[in-house]
Amino acid sequence: MSKVYICTAIPYVNGNPHIGHAMDYLLADTYARFCRKNGDEVRFEVGTDEHGNKVFSTAAKNGLPVEEYASQNSQKFQDFIQKLNISFTDTIRTTDPDHMRRCQEIWQRLEAHIYAADYDGWYCEGCERFVTQKEYDETGGVCPDHQKPYERLTEKNYYLRIADFRDEIKRQIEANEMQILPEFRKQEVLRLLEDTPDISISRPKKQLSWGVPVPGDDSQVMYVWMDALSNYITILGYPDQDISAWWPATAQFVGKDILRFHTITWPAILLGLGLPLPKTIVSHGHVLADGQKMSKSVGNVVDPLEVVERHGLEAFRYYFSRHIDTFADSDFTWQKFDDAYNNELANDLGNLVQRLAALCRKNQITGHEVRVEFAPVYCDLMQKFEFSKAFNYVWGEVQGINKLIDQTKPWELAKLGNQAKTEAVMGELVDKLLHVTTMLEPFLPDTATKIYEIFSTTEIIAPPTTPLFPKA
Ligand code: MSP
Repeated sequence: MSKVYICTAIPYVNGNPHIGHAMDYLLADTYARFCRKNGDEVRFEVGTDEHGNKVFSTAAKNGLPVEEYASQNSQKFQDFIQKLNISFTDTIRTTDPDHMRRCQEIWQRLEAHIYAADYDGWYCEGCERFVTQKEYDETGGVCPDHQKPYERLTEKNYYLRIADFRDEIKRQIEANEMQILPEFRKQEVLRLLEDTPDISISRPKKQLSWGVPVPGDDSQVMYVWMDALSNYITILGYPDQDISAWWPATAQFVGKDILRFHTITWPAILLGLGLPLPKTIVSHGHVLADGQKMSKSVGNVVDPLEVVERHGLEAFRYYFSRHIDTFADSDFTWQKFDDAYNNELANDLGNLVQRLAALCRKNQITGHEVRVEFAPVYCDLMQKFEFSKAFNYVWGEVQGINKLIDQTKPWELAKLGNQAKTEAVMGELVDKLLHVTTMLEPFLPDTATKIYEIFSTTEIIAPPTTPLFPKA
């Protein structure tokens, strides 16, 4: 048994959760459940990122004091996480006083690598970062993610000296001591690392007061990323407590858009503190709506609660774990979602459960014990964080059981009066379904529980009164 620490990106609380936000949680939850099944002890953190410009200016637009606005939205994310049945163990808000005090101590411990200077450059408020002249030129001066022109800003900032850490970060990435997945993202980061300038880690308070005060300088607050990244260790009690039982993180789940912060800024902070780097950074792709990036201005943001309402939570988890590729961008459309529900969940799995349980009842077959013995191919994919591929494998097995029923035709055996053979064939089918269900469980935990209840009984197996996935 080993200790596994899983971290998710903490979302900004400048709006409601959307379906994209589910990705960090679902991938991390699947991994957490898989590890627990393997006997590991898991700590799994979630939280909200509440400081910075974005939150401050949206609160103002909504006419609310920023503290109140942040609290309201933080609660919405908490509710969302609960609704998705995410098995987290720890939760943090970056406005927690303990977190803020710990960030200040972290800052002080990094002082040998921090200096002050004036900075003049192009800034995107949406990204909360300055862009290089090269990025400015390549995008025609408009942020491709936020569709807003960059602003020219000059300000005093504190900087974290990247040169102090560049070689070591590079070495650890190349040696996979900090593994970056998928591989093409690792190459991207290595290229980026070459040109990364020192990182601005503060903002003048007169421009933005909503942040953690910089210790020893009343005129500055910490840059939101400095404060946000630290959450992964302040939640464990750093620096008040020894965190070595849990740190380094086994896996950190982040979207592709924030990979640079997690593979350059974050490692620089950790190395400056003398802490080890996370073992793996899993960088997932984005969810698109009808082939397009979701954005409030386009008006195509899909409300995740509406998706859960449509066919229930398990259908939500199913679609986002299997049809949204773990690493590549993938599409959500209502049509694809409905088709996946009806043709796959209801037909392949729902019908299988109903049909097999009915056959069992007819032939007086009693339930079996569940044995957890993952198929090597499945284990290998899960350990490589290839979740959508692992799920495809599991689904192939589900379809395989359907085929096996058609081939073995237990009803014909029963008609011939061959009870021993019927029992043996049916027993094998039940065993197979239970075995596949153990591999399904990290993705669809409630469905797995229902299947265990039906087939892992000491009584005669009977179909559920309502189908697992009623046809819509
Ligand atoms: N607050 C920062 C993260 C700080 S971590 C120390 C942030 N917040 S966010 O709300 O913009 O994004 C939170 C997570 O959601 C990120 O991992 C981001 O990549 C992910 N996603 C946001 N939109 C997404 C999609 N459309 N699809 C998939 N994931 C997306 O960044």
